[in-house]
Amino acid sequence: MNMSTLWLVPVVLYVGLCSIITNSVVAIDDGSKKCDFSAIFNFGDSNSDTGGLSAAFGQPGPPFGESFFHHPVGRYCDGRLIIDFIAEKLGHPYLNAYLDAVGSNFSHGANFATAGSTIRPQNTTLHQTGGFSPFSLDVQFNQFNDFQRRTQIFRNKGEIFKTLLPKAEDFSRALYTFDIGQNDLTSGYFHNMSINQVRAYVPDVLAQFKIIIKNVYVRGGRSFWVHNTGPVGCLPYIIDLHKVKADDFDKAGCAIPYNEVAQFFNHELKSAVVQLRKKLPLAAITYVDVYSAKYSLISHPKKHGFEEPLRGCCGHGGKYNYNLHIGCGAKVKINGKEILIGKACKDPSVWVNWDGVHYTQAGNKWVFDQIVDGSYSDPPIPLNKACHKHT
Ligand SMILES: *[C@@H]1O[C@H](CO)[C@@H](O)[C@H](O)[C@H]1NC(C)=O
Ligand SMILES: *[C@@H]1O[C@H](CO)[C@@H](O)[C@H](O)[C@H]1NC(C)=O
Ligand SMILES: *[C@@H]1O[C@H](CO)[C@@H](O)[C@H](O)[C@H]1NC(C)=O
Repeated sequence: MNMSTLWLVPVVLYVGLCSIITNSVVAIDDGSKKCDFSAIFNFGDSNSDTGGLSAAFGQPGPPFGESFFHHPVGRYCDGRLIIDFIAEKLGHPYLNAYLDAVGSNFSHGANFATAGSTIRPQNTTLHQTGGFSPFSLDVQFNQFNDFQRRTQIFRNKGEIFKTLLPKAEDFSRALYTFDIGQNDLTSGYFHNMSINQVRAYVPDVLAQFKIIIKNVYVRGGRSFWVHNTGPVGCLPYIIDLHKVKADDFDKAGCAIPYNEVAQFFNHELKSAVVQLRKKLPLAAITYVDVYSAKYSLISHPKKHGFEEPLRGCCGHGGKYNYNLHIGCGAKVKINGKEILIGKACKDPSVWVNWDGVHYTQAGNKWVFDQIVDGSYSDPPIPLNKACHKHT
């Protein structure tokens, strides 16, 4: 996309912004004021996909969704994701996936995330081993851009459109949430790259991330809530991918080298956020250390009321109840009889990991409860005050 077109922000948006600027100055003086987020726009991967990938590539089957929705709902989880708890907390309905054409109501936001998404576009298709979603962050931004333009055309038609689509000013009053980057790291591992090779391309990944945040800002985005990446070295699908040396495991049973790269990514992400704050003077950007919350859950499960931190609840075989080729919800023929790969754990509400790749609803809820009040954030402000700029 030609950058210059991005500067053609509609006049009406500028009018909206002016009132926002005045409001937020008042709000900085009164740090205790809650933000009135009119909408949530989310960008990400399976950690926050509420139906995007499944709208294009098919639903993950049962038992996905069973703990809360009681049927599959395009989430890679037994229930709700962190983004669902964010929507609940801000008083909005769950976000519809932008790609969900039927029955969606986007008046309170849209979700551009899809499972398997990366920041950098990949050169593989979803159907290759270690293939990733074609909806990388640049594509998600294009979709957002088109969404913003077209919703205003259709809102002006009135009637039902008015109740289904956001107002022009909602784009500057919205919370923009990001949870993406994990697959940029894991794609390297799936392509047999060394830890050092993956580490070496992290700066390029973050350079592309910064471009997208700037583009959203140019389109009127002001409040950003950015999750860092989790401890991927604690997830069965990564631990199981290549042989990990015995002394490369930490006390929690996580693979240290993979976690070190994730920490390096997070360190670079945090400095990217610092640079963005300087470049985008009207933006409030909150960096959320999801890594530390997830790692404390996995390293001290009992303390937090969980039994099993590493093994997947739903899956098949091996040390972690995980098999890359026979995943949760798969149907396999054993002795001519079709068998559904379902839950191996009795109670997913005391397990951290759902399917070897993703967290359970209980795990997501626990992490959400840690991050919602700002104790894992920089600056340390709660979710519902993340429109306030702190310098
Ligand atoms: C895809 O291929 C192009 C051209 O060779 C390269 O510049 C780019 O870095 C590749 N992307 C990834 C994610 O490897
Ligand atoms: C869409 O959602 C909004 C906010 O929840 C609601 O006010 C509106 O009535 C909904 N529109 C339809 C057609 O259901
Ligand atoms: C990675 O290595 C494994 C084992 O040697 C091999 O089977 C697989 O095809 C390789 N993957 C890629 C993408 O090169």
